[in-house]
Amino acid sequence: MKATISEVKNYVGAEVTIGAWLANKRSSGKIQFLELRDGTGYIQGVVLKNEVSEESWEKAKELTQESSLYVTGTVREDKRAPSGFELTVTSLEVIQIAQDYPITPKDHGVEFLMDHRHLWLRSSRQHAILRIRDEIIKATYDFFHDNGFTKVDPPILTGSSAEGTTDLFHTKYFDRDAYLSQSGQLYMEAAAMALGKVYSFGPAFRAEKSKTRRHLIEFWMIEPEMAFCDHEESLNVQENYVAYLVEEVLKNCQTELKTIGRDTSKLEKIKAPFPRMTYDDAIEFLKSEGFDDIEWGDDFGSPHETAIAEHFDVPVFVTEYPTKVKAFYMKPVPGRDEVVLCADLLAPEGYGEIIGGSQRIDDLELMKERYEQFHLTDPSYKWYLELRQYGSVPHSGFGLGLERAVAWICGLDHIRETIPFPRLLNRIYP
Ligand code: 4AD
Ligand code: MG
Repeated sequence: MKATISEVKNYVGAEVTIGAWLANKRSSGKIQFLELRDGTGYIQGVVLKNEVSEESWEKAKELTQESSLYVTGTVREDKRAPSGFELTVTSLEVIQIAQDYPITPKDHGVEFLMDHRHLWLRSSRQHAILRIRDEIIKATYDFFHDNGFTKVDPPILTGSSAEGTTDLFHTKYFDRDAYLSQSGQLYMEAAAMALGKVYSFGPAFRAEKSKTRRHLIEFWMIEPEMAFCDHEESLNVQENYVAYLVEEVLKNCQTELKTIGRDTSKLEKIKAPFPRMTYDDAIEFLKSEGFDDIEWGDDFGSPHETAIAEHFDVPVFVTEYPTKVKAFYMKPVPGRDEVVLCADLLAPEGYGEIIGGSQRIDDLELMKERYEQFHLTDPSYKWYLELRQYGSVPHSGFGLGLERAVAWICGLDHIRETIPFPRLLNRIYP
């Protein structure tokens, strides 16, 4: 019977064959302990000299770290084993002996590990992080599906910029200019006018020259957009969504959280609603915390975000930023043109902004003014203006950076471990 390690619980007392890699090996005289992994979990295989053929015994001796094999044995329940089960090996077949696997149980530097990312993914810690990432993706689909949203896929090759022109990746589209998408938002607004409540999940590209623990050049973003929805209603969706992500990870990923050593008591506190602080109050707060240089109108850097977020156990919304530091499409606060109906959601423990969102301008004349101010004269923006011309409605949306959310929920020092193959300022290998 072929089985995966995660399935052995169904086969106690029976003989199964598992395709596996050797993670580690110990031996003492007439017994060899094989630590086996197959991607679904870990199990210890026990090889007893007196109970296997001479050939299987010798083959087990040859196994090196990351050698691949088919191992056959009887499943035994064992309370002391980390997985709760053990395999008494009856025979084994080597597929390949790995020669000098570069990542050994000793410590390696980060650059070395990043150069071997294609192999590093096999380590228990990286495996656990990718499992949690998958859980967050699944919870995202469930949340939006269960709340009446339709998934819509915006294009990745675009004719114009969505979030400013400073960090665009330029490419050729036959004889024309094109850019890799920084955000699907503008297209999602069109989709919301067709389907009401929509969301996207796809890659975003930012040619940002920032080399920080929070920035990727290529990252994945979830972008919901809702027709007939104001800023306040959007904040309610955001906090319920983020609380749900944490709840699902706590429910389904205890083993993984333990593997990476996450302090789960911090995650257990994450319940909606989240506190709100206006930008005006945030400036006063920062001044009182000794940030003497900050002035009304400045955008926040990560030290500012961290100082604000450290004040809370749960994520905090900073709302109503100055119009001039935010994107062209944000709707002004009624009666206060200098600030907009927007919020950044700052995660606790210094993880910074995980969501940026806003209510969008729905007034045709005001949007035309913004086009003038922002020099959006390129014909590729024409269609976006037309959304305000034919049945314009109040609408809001937001973008959650998947990797920022994974970094926070996993409690990681750096965003590079949240994505299988990170694209960083100085890295596009492997
Ligand atoms: O705040 P941003 O730039 O907002 C937008 O792109 C809007 N169009 C979203 C919308 O309203 N539909 O990006 C949204 C989120 C950030 O809060 C952050 O989590 C993530 O995307 N993000 C990055 N993550 C990793 N590396 C980068 N370079 C990122 N830039 C943004
Ligand atoms: Mg932002």
